[in-house]
Amino acid sequence: MKSLIFVSILALAVGFWWRNPGIDEHSEVITTPYSQLPHGFKLEIDQLQIGYDPRRYGIEVLEYLKRGSGPVPFMWEDVVDRENKTDLGLYYMDQFNVTQIVLLKEQLYHHSTIPDFIPHVDTIPSISSTIKEFFSDEVPKLIKFTSKSLTSKDFEFTKQQPHSFTDPRYRYFKEGSLLKLPNLAHYDLRFYHSKLTPLDRLAILHRIVRSWFRFTNFTEMDTWLAHGSLLGWFFNGLIMPWDDDLDVQMSARAFEKLLQYNGTIVVDYNENVTLGKYLIDVNPWYGVREKESDNKIDARFIDVESGLYIDITVLSVGEVDRDKIEEESAKLTEMFKVFNPGFDQILTETEKYIQEIEIGFNKSLENKDLIFCKDYHFYKIEELTPLIPVIFEGGVGFVPSQIQNLLQREYKRKSLYLFEYKGFQFDKIRRIWKHNSIEYEYNEAMSNFINLHESTRQAPIKRQTYNSSQLIQFNQFRMEPWIRQLYNS
Ligand SMILES: *[C@@H]1O[C@H](CO)[C@@H](O)[C@H](O)[C@H]1NC(C)=O
Ligand SMILES: *[C@@H]1O[C@H](CO)[C@@H](O)[C@H](O)[C@H]1NC(C)=O
Ligand SMILES: *[C@@H]1O[C@H](CO)[C@@H](O)[C@H](O)[C@H]1NC(C)=O
Ligand SMILES: *[C@@H]1O[C@H](CO)[C@@H](O)[C@H](O)[C@H]1NC(C)=O
Ligand SMILES: *[C@@H]1O[C@H](CO)[C@@H](O)[C@H](O)[C@H]1NC(C)=O
Ligand SMILES: *[C@@H]1O[C@H](CO)[C@@H](O)[C@H](O)[C@H]1NC(C)=O
Ligand SMILES: *[C@@H]1O[C@H](CO)[C@@H](O)[C@H](O)[C@H]1NC(C)=O
Repeated sequence: MKSLIFVSILALAVGFWWRNPGIDEHSEVITTPYSQLPHGFKLEIDQLQIGYDPRRYGIEVLEYLKRGSGPVPFMWEDVVDRENKTDLGLYYMDQFNVTQIVLLKEQLYHHSTIPDFIPHVDTIPSISSTIKEFFSDEVPKLIKFTSKSLTSKDFEFTKQQPHSFTDPRYRYFKEGSLLKLPNLAHYDLRFYHSKLTPLDRLAILHRIVRSWFRFTNFTEMDTWLAHGSLLGWFFNGLIMPWDDDLDVQMSARAFEKLLQYNGTIVVDYNENVTLGKYLIDVNPWYGVREKESDNKIDARFIDVESGLYIDITVLSVGEVDRDKIEEESAKLTEMFKVFNPGFDQILTETEKYIQEIEIGFNKSLENKDLIFCKDYHFYKIEELTPLIPVIFEGGVGFVPSQIQNLLQREYKRKSLYLFEYKGFQFDKIRRIWKHNSIEYEYNEAMSNFINLHESTRQAPIKRQTYNSSQLIQFNQFRMEPWIRQLYNS
């Protein structure tokens, strides 16, 4: 009883920071990110935890290391809460063995079961320093990031692609659409648990993309924001609130590094509460570089708690099947626009004009300057390089150099100046997308981030050449769903 009263009082107190009644727009949810709470509140949140604790797994791995024996807990049961997963999801989960665990903190710690499922531990200087490092305090950092130049070599595969052209090929990644539930199309079936509210979905995507930035920084893989995520960066450095997933691209060379992590669970332990567990899953048919609508995604970085993910696509040089591009007029137009940005504004497409584009296209292919993904988005390497470091969702990642050009090609010119979409309005003062009937989160840390983003946004857009920049990495500023749930129950 006593503890019940304590919890109610706490809930009242917490309710205050949780939902400030002073704001009149009913869809705005004011939060205080965990990292900004006073220490007392943090401890109380920690004490409130009963039963399942999403932070537990990383601690268990460390405790295992401390003991130095016994099997590394790699079974799905240890990694994933299997309760309430769909039967089909569980079936697909059991078709897949985790091969390696990577813990992410100041360094990258590998725990591998390869070869022969013998526990094998790399890069552990000492267990005590590792444990100390994992639980020491975390403050926002000023980080120096350097731009990266890419050349056509970066877009060539060097290794034989193991599963190319094996038959039969089927859709490798299994989303909810297989259950004929189109609104679950953006969840990996294996980890789908329940449909998330928009607020929770954004909070999870926030965590996923930050972990991806950290993971690829440590492993030195070249990756950058693409498609809808790049458009989100352009507006306010945040995920578009109507997006269900994230999009990044990688060079072929970087992808070959990622390949070594296929079947890996990445445990990100950066901030005390920010535990995320992600599966790296690489499509066995990434080597088929022509359009296959079922397998256009080359890999995914999947949050095993929720089934949300980052779609990873590779850009590579190589043969292009012209007939396949011509099957889809939108792709053909996009490709033509690489060689003439005003292509679709020309009223009469004369033979001569098309031929000029053809010449440019042929030359670019010949020079290994034309790169593309399996969904036939085409780029010239000079449009991507150098990759420019920027802040996105509070983390530090990269964008291609000709951001505006690429966005206009993909989304039409006006989309960059469109301030209403799907019932959302862009508030130009606060620089956030709002919706009258869909809850959106807002807080001070987010506002600070948006302001910093706005003040650093112009330089990359105007392509001022700079080789390095000081960027501030923010602590997580969206509320983790499991903390939210503790207070809703
Ligand atoms: C699983 O589903 C049951 C029935 O819908 C529900 O009572 C229970 O709370 C769910 N468990 C979790 C962990 O969500
Ligand atoms: C997963 O590993 C177990 C042994 O640890 C093995 O029996 C099983 O065949 C493996 N499954 C797959 C899909 O490789
Ligand atoms: C992380 O946890 C440690 C130990 O519980 C605590 O001393 C530290 O203040 C926490 N850091 C943050 C950023 O909350
Ligand atoms: C990126 O990795 C380097 C080491 O490879 C590390 O010193 C640096 O702190 C990392 N940056 C971030 C943001 O994690
Ligand atoms: C990645 O691992 C999964 C599970 O073992 C496997 O099905 C898939 O073929 C692998 N991908 C590649 C490119 O080897
Ligand atoms: C471009 O290359 C293709 C195939 O190599 C060739 O058939 C075509 O004539 C070339 N077009 C031009 C305009 O040179
Ligand atoms: C930036 O880097 C390029 C090549 O990486 C180099 O040529 C140039 O001198 C550098 N500029 C500055 C200001 O350091």
